[in-house]
Amino acid sequence: MDCLQDWPEPVVPVQSLSESGAPAIPDRYIKPPSDRPSLDSATDENILGIPVIDLGGLSEGALECRATMKAISDACREWGFFQVVNHGISHEVMEKIQEVWRGFFHLPMEAKKAYANSPTTYEGYGSRVGVQKDAILDWGDYYFLQYLPSSVKNHNKWPGLPTPIRGSIEEYGSEMVKLCEILMRVLSVSLGLDVEYLHKAFGGDDAGACLRVNYYPKCPQPDLTLGISAHSDPGGLTVLLADDQVKGLQVRKGDAWITVHPVPHAFIIMIGDQIQVLSNAMYKSVEHRVVVNAAEERLSLAFFCNPKSDLPLGPAPELVTPNRPPLYQPMTYNEYRLYIRKNGPGGKTQVESLKAT
Ligand code: OGA
Ligand code: NI
Repeated sequence: MDCLQDWPEPVVPVQSLSESGAPAIPDRYIKPPSDRPSLDSATDENILGIPVIDLGGLSEGALECRATMKAISDACREWGFFQVVNHGISHEVMEKIQEVWRGFFHLPMEAKKAYANSPTTYEGYGSRVGVQKDAILDWGDYYFLQYLPSSVKNHNKWPGLPTPIRGSIEEYGSEMVKLCEILMRVLSVSLGLDVEYLHKAFGGDDAGACLRVNYYPKCPQPDLTLGISAHSDPGGLTVLLADDQVKGLQVRKGDAWITVHPVPHAFIIMIGDQIQVLSNAMYKSVEHRVVVNAAEERLSLAFFCNPKSDLPLGPAPELVTPNRPPLYQPMTYNEYRLYIRKNGPGGKTQVESLKAT
């Protein structure tokens, strides 16, 4: 893993470029024309109706519960993406975690750099994914930390400031784990599998979970760059808490990029590549990207539920039939995520390239 030991060139936080007030972005953030966001032509989600699902329906009568599961299942097949409301997590917890992380990104640069990350584990404060020299970079900084399994969690790699932050991350993380457990059960059943199937296939209590907090500073030329290039999340399930004042997330539907309008106090749920693999492509991971803007910074928290890192994961045998042969070879998550960690985001090329021939 020599190539992952350090960054190929010095890392410049995007925040420092933004705060320098320069009217133009450096060349290495300028995307080729085909990848630029074309801000006017992005389709408005309201026209296409990205699903917003009321999770309260799961604990009502059998009819209501079945209808909610069906809505989730349809969203996973069609979009790999949906928003949830009535999810049981208090607005106070949601607001608090956003506030402490805003506080972190507004600390003096030196305080943040004390947590500078390296590509060996990515834990800490960083500004790039991928170790290719001279790569075109994204207009965003982030903090990445490991929440589960407990054998890997290390508070010293979490920020210590602003002071309530570690407690707030613990509190938020435990709420996220509960929500993911519910969603994993719903997905298992709606795939026709045993209710605990996904939980067990992900390694049960040894499954992984991590948090990536994204900070997108204001950008003087938002039409030339992206906050995060197109990608699908490599893990299982992502629960995203996005700024509900500032839009930025776009999801791909066919050839169109659709701008998501976050519903206040909703979470955005995204299917990742491991669930695409496990479901033998009945459910699809969603390709998504982030556009930035000149007027406002944006913050988002992505909580990722991932398989135990050394467990080979392939299509569930129950979902393989003579008409539907296994589409993917089993692979451990450790091996799988090396690709994005080396190459950076690349649309859905990784999961597509894995198709067994
Ligand atoms: C991610 C991601 C989207 C956003 O962190 O993987 O896609 O809105 N984030 O910041
Ligand atoms: Ni993502």
